[in-house]
Amino acid sequence: MKRSEYRRPLRVETPNLKLSTRNASHELRAALHEHLAWWGLRQFTSDPAYFAWQQQQLSPEDLKQLAARAEQKRKGDRHDEMAFYDAAAHPKIFPVLYSQRYDYYEVIASQIAAHCDEATAILDFGCGLGILTSFCARLFPDKQFVGVDRSSASIAVAQEQADRLGLRNLRFDCVDGDAEPLSGCYDLVVATHALLQAEQDPGLPSRSWQTFERGHDSVRQSAFEQRTGLGRRLDTLMEVLSSDGHMILCEKTRQLGRRVPFQRALAARGLQLLEPPTSVRYHSVEELVDDGPLYWLQRGSQERVAWDESPEPDEGRPFSPEALATPTDPESPLYENHWPSAQAAWEQVVDREVLVDTTRQEPDGRQMHVERGKFPGYHYLYCANTFDQRQLVIVEETRAVMLDVYYQDILRGLG
Ligand SMILES: C[S@@+](CC[C@H](N)C(=O)[O-])C[C@H]1O[C@@H](n2cnc3c(N)ncnc32)[C@H](O)[C@@H]1O
Repeated sequence: MKRSEYRRPLRVETPNLKLSTRNASHELRAALHEHLAWWGLRQFTSDPAYFAWQQQQLSPEDLKQLAARAEQKRKGDRHDEMAFYDAAAHPKIFPVLYSQRYDYYEVIASQIAAHCDEATAILDFGCGLGILTSFCARLFPDKQFVGVDRSSASIAVAQEQADRLGLRNLRFDCVDGDAEPLSGCYDLVVATHALLQAEQDPGLPSRSWQTFERGHDSVRQSAFEQRTGLGRRLDTLMEVLSSDGHMILCEKTRQLGRRVPFQRALAARGLQLLEPPTSVRYHSVEELVDDGPLYWLQRGSQERVAWDESPEPDEGRPFSPEALATPTDPESPLYENHWPSAQAAWEQVVDREVLVDTTRQEPDGRQMHVERGKFPGYHYLYCANTFDQRQLVIVEETRAVMLDVYYQDILRGLG
């Protein structure tokens, strides 16, 4: 295909883009595939095929350096993070690296595009190379888009690519939203994977090991917002959001400990949900990734849709006395649950007698509880902490010693 052909805006051939019709979503997907191919991205569903391609494109030294930068970035220092994104913007690197996000773009682009329809001026904060921003700008040539990012190398590539596409409705600015104000006023602000990058921050602990509930502790909330940078970034975005503007946010907030303070930070700034958050699941080549929901928000004092602070549904086996009577595998415990639903199972066990237990309390409020007990005919081990981890194991009396060993192992692990 000649380069001039790419200059045409990717207009879906219906006057109003209606994503709910089967045809429009098919056309949207086809348009996105064309856009990602133009960027040099490839779709892989097999790890061996992806890694073989990666090794053809990048030298062992490139890969080593990139892995070292990614490792540094995970530690959360802003300079390391910027160095990673600057390196990732290199024309040799980005097609390989961002091909891992192919499916992510597919999932997220349709959601963002669906909400662009009613907006006129759209800001994409932390836009990176602008792969999503330029896609939306091609889809909606009569709307104005601005992408900002603090990685100067990413912004240089983003602007160069927008120029190559001949997009007159799209501009990129290099701005660090932590340190500088943004200019303009937008009726739609989009931020995906840009507000809560501190991946290793577990968030807020629950009030105790017995509950998933978080206390309303303003000191802890603001400490979370400050150490992750979330508070500064949200304040920066609120300054450029029009009075009736909307926001689309998607961050790594799947864990309840992060989801609760994230949502409370939004609510404290007068943002309300327009609809229940939708789950964003995608494949990074073969790996299924579930980062956290996508939020569609508006300013407002009246709560339209309630914030959900309950643990997400999990895959834990429901507990019932009958399940204990019919062991599936003689080598395995009669019942095992390593999910938050283990708490409900533990609460359902009647006539529990605690044989020995330990609760470890850290100065920052975290707790870890381990309990060895029995109930008629059976023995159990239960562990719970204030970061929503739960574990319940039940065995028959003859295998009780196995739980004593687990109990001691866990205590040794606590140090
Ligand atoms: C994981 S990338 C996400 C890119 C894009 N939004 C997406 O969904 O594919 C995160 C981007 O946010 C940018 N970023 C993080 N903090 C920022 C800040 N304070 N100001 C501007 N950009 C920031 C980073 O430089 C990086 O390009």
